Amino acid sequence: MLPPEKNRLLTEVGPGTPMGDLLRRYWHPIAGVTEFEAKAVKPIRLFGENLVLFKTLAGDFGLIARRCAHRGSDLSFGIVEEDGLRCGYHGWQYDRTGACVFRPFENAVNPGQAIPPSTKLAGYPVQVKGGMIWTYMGPQPAPLLPDWETFSWPNCYTQVVIAEIPCNWLQCQENTVDPVHFEWMHNNGPQRRAGDFGPYSPPTIDLQVEDFEYGLISRRFREGTDKTTPLWSVGRAILWPNGWYFGHHFEWKVPIDDENTLFITWSILHVPTECEPYVQTRIPTWYAPIKDENGEWILSHVGNQDIVAWVSQGRIADRTHEHLGASDRGVAMLRRRLFDDLAAVAAGREPRGIIRNPERNVRIELPCIAREDLKNGLPRAEMQRHPVMGPFLRDYYSMAGQPEEIKEEFEQAMSVRQSTFLRHKFVPQ
Ligand SMILES: [Fe+2]
Repeated sequence: MLPPEKNRLLTEVGPGTPMGDLLRRYWHPIAGVTEFEAKAVKPIRLFGENLVLFKTLAGDFGLIARRCAHRGSDLSFGIVEEDGLRCGYHGWQYDRTGACVFRPFENAVNPGQAIPPSTKLAGYPVQVKGGMIWTYMGPQPAPLLPDWETFSWPNCYTQVVIAEIPCNWLQCQENTVDPVHFEWMHNNGPQRRAGDFGPYSPPTIDLQVEDFEYGLISRRFREGTDKTTPLWSVGRAILWPNGWYFGHHFEWKVPIDDENTLFITWSILHVPTECEPYVQTRIPTWYAPIKDENGEWILSHVGNQDIVAWVSQGRIADRTHEHLGASDRGVAMLRRRLFDDLAAVAAGREPRGIIRNPERNVRIELPCIAREDLKNGLPRAEMQRHPVMGPFLRDYYSMAGQPEEIKEEFEQAMSVRQSTFLRHKFVPQ
């Protein structure tokens, strides 16, 4: 149970808030590169700030404040130029730092007149990695954008899947250190909703959360297994402060504002070794629906089940009335580490997991279950039997709504035909 002021401290992420300032000290993925094949400018809201993300004619990305300094027109209706974005109303032009560099009529009547510095808009650096656009919105000098090794695995098919979640970022991230939810949210609940009243799936017997260089490691095992299971011996990496890594996918929860979160997943699967060499020239991005055509929450896929758990806690989970138990050891630890980081930043120190050494930031290996198989691939027959890879080969079970053309592209890369399977019957790895 948290006092109200501590709950606010962890969940308020707007400009000038301690948690917003802490989270801004990390790079965050915010969109997919392929979104800019069909458009050049996209409105986006991050950490309570309204911004525009754009792709210049030269092919570079920029992220600046959404309102033109002139009379406040919305720059998402702007026009891109070789090195910047022009307001669609009177043509004022901004570079990728947000500086106003040209005002057509002012220049016509007063050529050479200096542009007032007060016309400078907020602008944030962006980088491209893994088919995603990332930004850093914190103080300079910016740390390095982590070069996780999985971004460079060859012979893989990758897709970026994004959903907008109507709740605060922290309840989404608390889910990463809460392994007991697996058997209920992903097995027992779906099984019973499907009318199968057979035995419950094996319960979690023990869990542990530990620190590691880039965040936390979560370990667990279920009845019928022991600490030799890779779910315990290897565990799962929670990337600081808002990521999660499974080997077959990353996910990040990026605050839009206090009550909304951008949920970005990056899913990768090695092609069967018979299909090598495989080079993916374009990592597609798609937006996943979270409600069906009747306005009901989608519960069919693992990621959607998680989303329902998060939003069902309310727009901002009320931690002043909760009753934490032994299953919440990880949740309590996550909060303690966030409070430690808030104190560190207030004292002028660096928070956890920041990478600044370029020699260290080269294809950083992260712990994951079945790492060698995921990285190097397997023959199709072995892959189909594999507890981690097999289910992905049969069905994209992570999120509902995968576009047909992406499914087809995946099937071609893997040389398989997918089918759906009884998702609640298998234990997500
Ligand atoms: Fe889950």
